[in-house]
Amino acid sequence: MSRFSRITGTGSYLPPRRLTNADLTTELAAKGVETSDEWIIERTGIRARHFADPGVCVSDLALQACQRALEAAGRDAGEIDLIIVATSTPDMVFPSAACILQSKLGNVGAAAFDAQAVCSGFIYALTLADSLIKTGTATKALVIGAEVFSRILDFSDRTTCVLFGDGAGAVVLEASDVPGILATDIHADGQYSSILCVPGHVSGGQVTGSPMLTMDGQAVFKLAVGVLEDTARAVLEKAGKTQADIDWLIPHQANIRIMQNTAKKLKLAPEKMIVTVDQHGNTSAASIPLALDVAVRSGKVQKGDTLLLEGVGGGFTWGAVLVDY
Ligand code: ACO
Repeated sequence: MSRFSRITGTGSYLPPRRLTNADLTTELAAKGVETSDEWIIERTGIRARHFADPGVCVSDLALQACQRALEAAGRDAGEIDLIIVATSTPDMVFPSAACILQSKLGNVGAAAFDAQAVCSGFIYALTLADSLIKTGTATKALVIGAEVFSRILDFSDRTTCVLFGDGAGAVVLEASDVPGILATDIHADGQYSSILCVPGHVSGGQVTGSPMLTMDGQAVFKLAVGVLEDTARAVLEKAGKTQADIDWLIPHQANIRIMQNTAKKLKLAPEKMIVTVDQHGNTSAASIPLALDVAVRSGKVQKGDTLLLEGVGGGFTWGAVLVDY
C-alpha cells in the first residue's frame, strides 16, 4: 500500500498589537518618514499588520499556532515525531526555533529543525515533511511558518517598513493511505540573493553588516510574477491536474497585485483566491499557513477541496504544493 501525507489540522496566531495604515503612518510621521494609507493600499493592498511586543519570539507565536493546529487535528504534542519551523527570524542563532518550540510544546524526541527559504519557507518545509512521511522517517509532523519581521525592518525606509507583519501558522501533517499532498515543486536561484536580503551576520561578538531588510521592490516584483506562474503549472503537471481542478489558490501574501496577476495567468476567478494580505501584511514564511487557517476556520476551504499553495521569496526561492485537503 502506498504511503502519503495529509493535513489533519490547521492553526494560526497573530500577536495582539494591530497597526492600521493610519496608525503606522502616524508613527512614521513622528520619525519624519512620509507615507499614506492611500499609497500603501494602492501599491500593495495592505490595510493593517500585527507586530509582536518586545521580548515575544518566533517560538512564542509558533506555540500558539501549533496548539490550535493540534486541537483541530485531535492530537497531543507528545504524538508528534517531526517539527519543522520555516522562519528567517528565529529566536537565536542556535539552537533552532524548532527545538525551542519543541520544549515549549512539551514534546521530547521528535526530530526538530528550521527551514530557511524566506517567504517560500513554508512551501519548502511542507515539501520536506511530505517526503519524510512518505519514506517512513516520520508519521505525524508539525509544519510551521512563523516570523517576527518587525525586528528586521528599518523604520526609516518607507519602501520596505510598510509591507511586513508578524504572525504564525501551522499544520499537522500525518501519514495516510490516501493522498493529501498531491505534488510538490521547489526551486531557487542564488544569483538573485542581493535583491532581497538582510546582509548582517554575527562575527567576533558584533553584528557585521546591516541587520535590516533591504529590497529592490521592482526586481522582486518582476521575478515573482514569472516564477509563480511557472511553479503553479509545474506542480499541476506533476499531479496530472489542470487549473480547472483548483478550488482555492492560497499564494504567499506579499502584494495583492502580484497575487491577482498570478490568478489571472492561471485563468482563476479572483474569488477563488484566499486573500489575507490586507489584514496581515506580508508575514513571509507565515503567510501561507496563516491564510490557509483563516480560510479553513471561515468555512471557505472544505474537506476534499483541492488547494494550490505557492510561495516566492528571498534567495531567490519559489515553489508550490498541490493539496487535497
Ligand atoms: N509611501 C509613499 N511613497 C512611497 C513609499 C511609501 N511607503 N514607498 C515608496 N514610495 C515612493 C517612491 O519613493 C517612489 O517615489 P518617486 O516616484 O518620487 O521616486 C514612488 O513611491 C514609486 O516607487 P516604486 O518603488 O516605483 O513603487 P512600486 O509601484 O514599484 O511599488 C512595491 C513598490 C510595493 C515595493 C512593489 O515594487 C512591490 O510590491 N514589489 C514586490 C515586493 C514584494 O512582494 N516583496 C516581497 C516578496 S518576497 C518576500 O515576501 C520577502
